[in-house]
Amino acid sequence: MGCLRGGILVVLMVVGVVGGQSVRNKPPCKFPAMYNFGDSNSDTGGISAAFEPIRLPYGQTFFKKAAGRDSDGRVLLDFIAEQVGLPYLSAYLNSIGANFRHGANFATGGSTIRRQNETIFQNGISPFSLDVQIWHHDQFKSRTKDLYQQVKSPFEKSLLPRPEDFSKALYTFDIGQNDLSVAFRTMNNEQLRATIPNIISQFSSAVQHLYEQGARSFWIHNTGPIGCLPVSQFYIVNPKPGFLDEFGCIKGNNDMAIQFNKQLKDAVTKLRTQLPEAALTYVDLYSAKYGLISKTKSQGWADPMKVCCGYHEKYDHVWCGQKGVISNGTTMFGAVCKDPELHVSWDGVHHTEGANHWFATQIFNGSLTDPPTPITHACYRN
Ligand SMILES: *[C@@H]1O[C@H](CO)[C@@H](O)[C@H](O)[C@H]1NC(C)=O
Ligand SMILES: *[C@@H]1O[C@H](CO)[C@@H](O)[C@H](O)[C@H]1NC(C)=O
Ligand SMILES: *[C@@H]1O[C@H](CO)[C@@H](O)[C@H](O)[C@H]1NC(C)=O
Repeated sequence: MGCLRGGILVVLMVVGVVGGQSVRNKPPCKFPAMYNFGDSNSDTGGISAAFEPIRLPYGQTFFKKAAGRDSDGRVLLDFIAEQVGLPYLSAYLNSIGANFRHGANFATGGSTIRRQNETIFQNGISPFSLDVQIWHHDQFKSRTKDLYQQVKSPFEKSLLPRPEDFSKALYTFDIGQNDLSVAFRTMNNEQLRATIPNIISQFSSAVQHLYEQGARSFWIHNTGPIGCLPVSQFYIVNPKPGFLDEFGCIKGNNDMAIQFNKQLKDAVTKLRTQLPEAALTYVDLYSAKYGLISKTKSQGWADPMKVCCGYHEKYDHVWCGQKGVISNGTTMFGAVCKDPELHVSWDGVHHTEGANHWFATQIFNGSLTDPPTPITHACYRN
């Protein structure tokens, strides 16, 4: 009897190993479309379409013009599109020249998971929180479905998603960073800690809703080391010992991001049991980003706390592409550095294209994801 049990155990283990590898051995997924939800880390023109457009020098490196992105060039989502063989995503809010055949981007710069009670004109918080992005998605889906049946012209049809592609699409998420940044300015640590479960539960509801709408493949970025963004230190003078870590990041802020990510990961694990047909991949983008911060010296990058674009010295802050009078009375321009490709931070809040590309190469092969699935295989439930 014991022998028999042992035999079964061995067989199960072998099947387990083969099962894990077989996802990689399967043919890559053929995602016909991508739908993205998020903030400025993945906005490809949403906030620019809805409010004041982002201007040059943003976009100068790759697009050679302002491209609705908060970077000198491509954002991580653009590299994801390239990796799965799709064109760059049009923003849902963009009414001019948009092509939605291969998906839409609902992300807008300044978005949060939780609805906030402030206007964008106060601190740049987008009115398009995750629940609103979900409304946009639902409306996009139902209206394009109707239109697809109605329009006769092949050209018009070619700009619309095929209704059957929604369930085969890749659904990507990069949101939560602004929930933390708002909380850092409006709450103490205890209040924030108490709020994280509610933020995460609203995130889970969004995923659940999309699943009910037919979505199956989910690629979910966790939030980055927010304490390593130069902006978090612009207004801090003479930090106490222990306030910063060995790379100059604010430890307390990163700890909060780690706490958020832990609960996000648990929520994704739980969703996996609740949504039997969903392939949910949790992506540890935090480790990719912190990894670059920790390796800048050895890999020849510039100081990660120095911005490429903008003038930030002591009490003087002139943002990227803006003009401002500094404390000695001189008008300064928030100019661009000579070597954006060597900088991690573009403007103090957002990353350069070079850094975004580096993060992409770290997350695509599955070594930082749970389960360890390459993005090309994110349609398979592991
Ligand atoms: C916004 O205001 C509403 C109504 O007062 C409140 O219930 C909600 O918690 C507030 N949200 C935030 C994020 O403060
Ligand atoms: C003020 O500071 C800027 C930046 O360091 C410098 O270029 C400029 O010469 C200074 N002007 C005066 C009047 O000191
Ligand atoms: C994934 O890519 C990274 C960066 O190129 C590399 O360090 C890592 O070893 C790769 N992992 C796997 C499982 O291929």
